[in-house]
Amino acid sequence: MDYATLLVEIDDRGIATVTINRPDKLNALNADVIADLDAFFQRAGTDGAIRGVILTGAGEKSFVAGADIARFRELDGEKGRFFAARGQAVFNRIEQLSKPVIAAVNGFALGGGSELAWACHLRIASDNARFGQPEVNLGIIPGYGGTQRLPRLAGLGLATELVLTGDMIDARRAYEMGLVNRVTTQAELMDAARAMMTTILGKAPLAVALTLKALRSSDRPLAEGLAVEADLFGQACDTEDFREGVDAFLGKRKADFQGK
Ligand code: COA
Repeated sequence: MDYATLLVEIDDRGIATVTINRPDKLNALNADVIADLDAFFQRAGTDGAIRGVILTGAGEKSFVAGADIARFRELDGEKGRFFAARGQAVFNRIEQLSKPVIAAVNGFALGGGSELAWACHLRIASDNARFGQPEVNLGIIPGYGGTQRLPRLAGLGLATELVLTGDMIDARRAYEMGLVNRVTTQAELMDAARAMMTTILGKAPLAVALTLKALRSSDRPLAEGLAVEADLFGQACDTEDFREGVDAFLGKRKADFQGK
């Protein structure tokens, strides 16, 4: 399937590399990009050829420099609510994918670009990456999850600083804040993302999916989250891969997981 604004490559290990491709506009998210991301991640949920997704931006300068400001003049209260809800629904789809999604942040990740990275399960940044929530400079607030996911990742104090000052932070600072998992050179970024994805794809696929689901409950009250975890643990115990994993360990051999 072709996408107007995305380049999609799927390798023989099932790693889909998705490149947002509007480099002349620093890969800003217009309605077409949002629609293409929606369509791609819908497909990724059901397409067995896709086992994990690496999301990046075209060019060497920008991951995604935010929502497309050129369209902002059209927004009023009602359209703004729809605009935010539409983007949030697509980012929720990314977050809720049962397969791992890594953001390979190759430059500016601002506004909706930062929020897109926060919605991915893992983030690797090149050393030229810059993160920020500059919406206050435009007289708006983050609308694609920045006031909700960023505090969950960075804690309320640091998130408040970022969204109120609009300041950009570099990759190293983002790493220190726990916002990114690794920092690499730009040349090594995609290899690092593929290496991390390959490690994850070597594990039992259903256990990975159930783990992602359990992690999504980590912001619930502890007792509720633990109940979800126990239920999902039980589901994992019903899989053939669980038998295989235990047999392989006890038999001192490598597990051959089938995703069943
Ligand atoms: N929406 C629409 N177009 C954008 C954009 C965005 N969020 N970010 C960058 N662009 C466009 C610029 O308008 C410019 O287009 P043009 O060549 O047709 O004039 C092109 O991308 C290159 O950007 P430019 O500003 O010339 O690059 P720069 O290196 O001088 O600055 C940034 C880079 C990222 C600092 C700057 O583009 C910027 O501040 N962008 C907006 C970031 C933002 O506020 N995002 C949150 C939106 S809620």
